Amino acid sequence: MPMKRTFALAALALLTAGFAFPSSRTSALLRYDRQIDALLGRMTLEEKVNMLHAKHMFVSAGVERLGIADLKYADGPFGVREEMEPDSWTPLGWQNDKATFFPTGSALAATWSPELAYAYGAALAREARLRGKDMILAPAINIQRIPTGGRTYEYLSEDPFLSARLSVGYTRGVQDNGVAVCLKHFALNNQENNRGMVDVIVGERALREIYLPPFRAAVEEADAWGVMAAYNKVAGKWCAENDLLLNRILRDEWGFAGPVISDWGGTHSTVDAIRSGLNIEMPGKQFFGKALLDAVARGEVSEELVNRRVREVLRVRLAVKPVPDSEANRVMTSQPAQQKVAYDVAARSIVLLKNDGVLPLQLKNRPLIAVIGANAIQTMATGGLGAGVKTLVEITPLEGLKNRVGERARIRFAQGYEPVQYAGFGGFRKKDPAELEKEEREKELRAETLALEAIEAASGADVVLFIGGNNRAVETEGSDRRDIFLPSGQDGLIARIAAVNPNIVTILTSGAPNDLGVVNRVSKALLLSWFNGSEGGNALADVLLGTISPSGRLPFTLPVKLEDSPAYALGNYPQGGPGSDVFASLVARAEAAPTAQEPGKSARDPNRAYYSEESLVGYRWFDTRKVPVMYPFGHGLTYTSFEYARLGTDRTSYHTDDVIRVTIELKNRGKMTADEVVQLYVHRVDPSVGWPEKELKAFARNTLRPGESRTVRLEVPAASLRYWNEGTRTWNDDPCMIELRVGPSAGDIRLKKRVSLR
Ligand code: BGC
Repeated sequence: MPMKRTFALAALALLTAGFAFPSSRTSALLRYDRQIDALLGRMTLEEKVNMLHAKHMFVSAGVERLGIADLKYADGPFGVREEMEPDSWTPLGWQNDKATFFPTGSALAATWSPELAYAYGAALAREARLRGKDMILAPAINIQRIPTGGRTYEYLSEDPFLSARLSVGYTRGVQDNGVAVCLKHFALNNQENNRGMVDVIVGERALREIYLPPFRAAVEEADAWGVMAAYNKVAGKWCAENDLLLNRILRDEWGFAGPVISDWGGTHSTVDAIRSGLNIEMPGKQFFGKALLDAVARGEVSEELVNRRVREVLRVRLAVKPVPDSEANRVMTSQPAQQKVAYDVAARSIVLLKNDGVLPLQLKNRPLIAVIGANAIQTMATGGLGAGVKTLVEITPLEGLKNRVGERARIRFAQGYEPVQYAGFGGFRKKDPAELEKEEREKELRAETLALEAIEAASGADVVLFIGGNNRAVETEGSDRRDIFLPSGQDGLIARIAAVNPNIVTILTSGAPNDLGVVNRVSKALLLSWFNGSEGGNALADVLLGTISPSGRLPFTLPVKLEDSPAYALGNYPQGGPGSDVFASLVARAEAAPTAQEPGKSARDPNRAYYSEESLVGYRWFDTRKVPVMYPFGHGLTYTSFEYARLGTDRTSYHTDDVIRVTIELKNRGKMTADEVVQLYVHRVDPSVGWPEKELKAFARNTLRPGESRTVRLEVPAASLRYWNEGTRTWNDDPCMIELRVGPSAGDIRLKKRVSLR
């Protein structure tokens, strides 16, 4: 059934809708309101307004006179950011602010484990406390809409359900350990190019069913205490002054009780922003400083509204106990217990895409292993723009292998290619043509020398480990990739290596999809090993050597080619000229910005992103449109095999407020302990509205010993099968026959069963 194409109309509805759906839940933050009444009564207007903007780059003020401490923030999603000068981005160069680098978002998502997301959040919070931070600017939970997205590696998944389960785990982990989260970037920050200007035109059904669920779940189920408003616009309004998003949906519907903080530099007005729900302007005070005081004096903003916004900030200030200055920064931020969590996540995130039997590696005859590729020695904790971790340790893939292999094999390393370098803030210097030509010639010579060394190393080896992929200069905040090909000529190099040694295992350390056309063909085994944190190299070695079975599952689809993916196939992305951006102009290398000036596209408005694929994001698109993929969403092999049998349900017919209880018999038929992620998708057989072919609605990670059988239990609340009715602007049931589809990936359904919804 075709999806309704109502996006433009719905965009209008976004602005005019007057419905409110009061939330039935109560945030724990409300328990401070009596205390806050008393505090507000003692505060001057100036003291109140002073709490609504930055005091420093990562601090907003309290009121010393009343014993209200400043609020201290830190990036970011995958490790506590280093200390910088109070009012600039310049690092202070401390010795003990080196933090644990946790696997980045897509790696965490590849674990398909809310429990690990909890452990991750808890570990991050413990390090944030050691540094005296109150709020961590994380998790980053936007949907991975385009494979080229600059922050795909920070975000979790293309799927709202998987993203939501992990967001809830992460949020609880952080907040149970005394630190507030700041969910970001609310909402629809799905691209980096032009993120500071782009206006997202999205249908309300896709908004509700695809883009908002991770935020909603973290607020409603985990009582998230902070939210960051995104840079972009939604339906014509900046996210930091978007009444629909901030007041009506976030606060009135979901019951969010904490503060909304602007993304850094993302505030655009005073009156509109404070009325529309923004609490704190970061990292300046252009709009919420004197301008706000003046607006109150002119009667454009009531003191009552100021009180309300201050109350929302104070709730978090009172819920999070400040770390006394005398206790913060006494020890090294990165601690062994947290490094262990980084290992645990990394070890379960690595995705084995293909294996014809070469893995696990056999070390019996002390083989010669050629490790080829700059990514084998590349660290991923920093780079790009923004979120980076000055880490105490980062085990690269080559170090991990050497650690774990010891004397059992001979390892020969060759770099193979020159990695893309981070251009930094000075990367924009214009060069004259002669200088450029000379540089180009030198680059070519160097590339050939590196390639020849690699081919030589490969030709005499028993096995080649090609360790390639992207890096943090390729995947970066502030700009999207122009394509998904492996950078630095890696395809050409691996093809030449294959000609001298066909025994190739390829490992890609990337945070986002790559075009696998060449590597998939020439590799006997292929793994995705992410930007995998402090312990990434050790975890990878453990998987390669079979100490543990790989168990990561793709959190996104790997397309055959970029143009197959929905926003590209429909011509919705890229939107036209490079446009403008908040920071990107400072850092984007000229060649990284999509030119998109081909005939036919040049007339397109670079400031509008049409989401006309509606809900057909990620596998929903490929499945529904029957577009072949390279590897499907949810895919990931192990070193064993699992048998799926007897899909059972507790009933055959359900009311729309029932819970569908599902059982599956799972058996490990192999010779080693391994984890299997059982995935349950729902297909509607005879619906009354359009649906994607199928949607993930439950999953469970199970560890089974050799030969062990287990009954896996999954639950699908029928309420989670509702759709957003754009006409009535309500969640509606679609009573129909549904088919439960269970298997190890979206592309490998092993069991099916139909039940009816009444
Ligand atoms: C990013 C945020 C980040 C903030 C502070 C912004 O550029 O979009 O994710 O938290 O900077 O570093």
